Amino acid sequence: MKAVRAAVALVALAIAPSLLAQGSTADEIAKYRAALQDGNPAELWEGRGEALWKQQRGPKNVSLERCDLGLGAGVVKGAYAQLPRYFADADRVMDLETRLVWCMVTLQGYTEADAKKNPFGNGNDRKSDLEALTAYVTSESRGVKMNVPMRHAKEAEAYRVGEKLFYFRGGTHDFACATCHSEEGKRIRLQDLPDLTTAQGAQKAYTTWPAYRVSQGELRTFEWRLYDCFRQQRFPELVFGSDAAIALTMFLARNANGAPFDAPAIKR
Ligand code: HEC
Repeated sequence: MKAVRAAVALVALAIAPSLLAQGSTADEIAKYRAALQDGNPAELWEGRGEALWKQQRGPKNVSLERCDLGLGAGVVKGAYAQLPRYFADADRVMDLETRLVWCMVTLQGYTEADAKKNPFGNGNDRKSDLEALTAYVTSESRGVKMNVPMRHAKEAEAYRVGEKLFYFRGGTHDFACATCHSEEGKRIRLQDLPDLTTAQGAQKAYTTWPAYRVSQGELRTFEWRLYDCFRQQRFPELVFGSDAAIALTMFLARNANGAPFDAPAIKR
């Protein structure tokens, strides 16, 4: 009996410090994140994106300054806070990345394949114009309240499909987005898993993408975030600009309505 009690005490001792460490680790991560906010390299992407926006490019040698992001031709300020949305000219709900590709094709004369061939960059070897343009456009919504519309039937449909996808379980592990993202306080190693089913959780997550990822030295867009979570979910590769990507974005963006947009941010 004594031995058992001693063993229990030993186990308790072994657990106690690790519990303590967990609390202080979270605190330390919070401090690290706060320290990072001071200088955000995302500004480099924003600057390059603005230059790309204004530069005459493509087979037609025109800039993107007449691109309609939903608030009228050339209006960038606040546009991202109202995306995704339905665009009559394309007869489709589009997120920002898809709309940028659309403008590169219709205004600048790129083929669709060319416009979206490099959605995610890889250091200095392979810079992504789409990431830079996304950084610039989103930065022009900083501080603007999320206000994603749901007037058009196709907007409502995209939201419903996004919601379905969020709860759809499948793949080798039978995971859904909800498996990892529908409870407070879940964690994988040191990463908090946000509960995306609450308004507060969706708001905090959605309004802080794009983000400069310190661990990757890259600015990452929301489409990248979804792409990487599909991978974590062991789902087939998410196709850039696909209806599935746009529907999931619609679901989370709309749920973030009312919160001020606050990106490009910086994350670990
Ligand atoms: C196997 C677990 C897992 C699954 C399944 C999963 N994710 Fe994630 N998700 C993560 C991890 C890990 C992170 C990164 C957390 C970090 O780096 O701080 C994350 C981050 C996110 C974020 C950013 C949160 C933030 O505050 O920055 C969003 C949005 C997101 N996931 C959406 C989704 C969606 C939509 C799906 C379904 C297509 C999904 N996730 C499926 C594990 C998962």
